[in-house]
Amino acid sequence: MTSPETKPTWVFGYGSLIYKVDFPYLRSEQASITGWQRRFWQGSHDHRGTPEQPGRVVTLVPAAKVVCKGVAYLVDNDVFDHLDHREKNGYRRFDIDIKLLKQQQRVPGVLYVADEHNFAYLGAAPTRDIATQIANSHGPSGSNRDYVLQLAEALRDLGDLDPHVFELESLLRSNNTR
Ligand code: BEZ
Repeated sequence: MTSPETKPTWVFGYGSLIYKVDFPYLRSEQASITGWQRRFWQGSHDHRGTPEQPGRVVTLVPAAKVVCKGVAYLVDNDVFDHLDHREKNGYRRFDIDIKLLKQQQRVPGVLYVADEHNFAYLGAAPTRDIATQIANSHGPSGSNRDYVLQLAEALRDLGDLDPHVFELESLLRSNNTR
C-alpha cells in the first residue's frame, strides 16, 4: 500500500519546467490552471544572470479568469529535493488545482511561485526595459535570451499564445532593445 508520504504529487510547470525536464516523472500531461498569468518579474542571479547583473525569469501573478497552460508531471516526492534546489532563488511551492486537458479532469497539485516578498523579486517594468535587461544577461544555465526563445517555442507547441512572452520574444528576435 502507498503511504501518504510516498503518494506521488502532480507538479504544474509553466516556465522552464515545460522544456527543461531534468527530473524523473511517472506521467506528464498538458494541463492548465486558472487565475494566474506569467510575468518576467523575478530576478535570476543563479541561472540566467549573476548577482551583479541579474536576468529576468517567469513567475506567476494572480489574474482573475486567465487560463495559463503548461505541463503537469506526476512525480515521486523525493523529486522535490531536486526541484526545490533548482528553483531556490526565491520560489516557493503552493498548492493548486490543475486541470489535465486530455482527460478534462481536475487534480490537486503544486507549483512554484516567486512572489513580491522574496529577495530576488524585480517586479513590473516597461516591456522594452525587460527585453533590454534580458538581452544583456547571461548566467550558468545560459543566456537569458535563450530562456525566452525556448519558452516561446514550448508555449507555441502547447497552443498557449501568451502575449507577454510573445512580445518579449519579438523584441529580442528583432534586437529591439537598447
Ligand atoms: C515552472 O516552469 O513551472 C517554474 C518556473 C519558475 C520556477 C519554478 C518553476
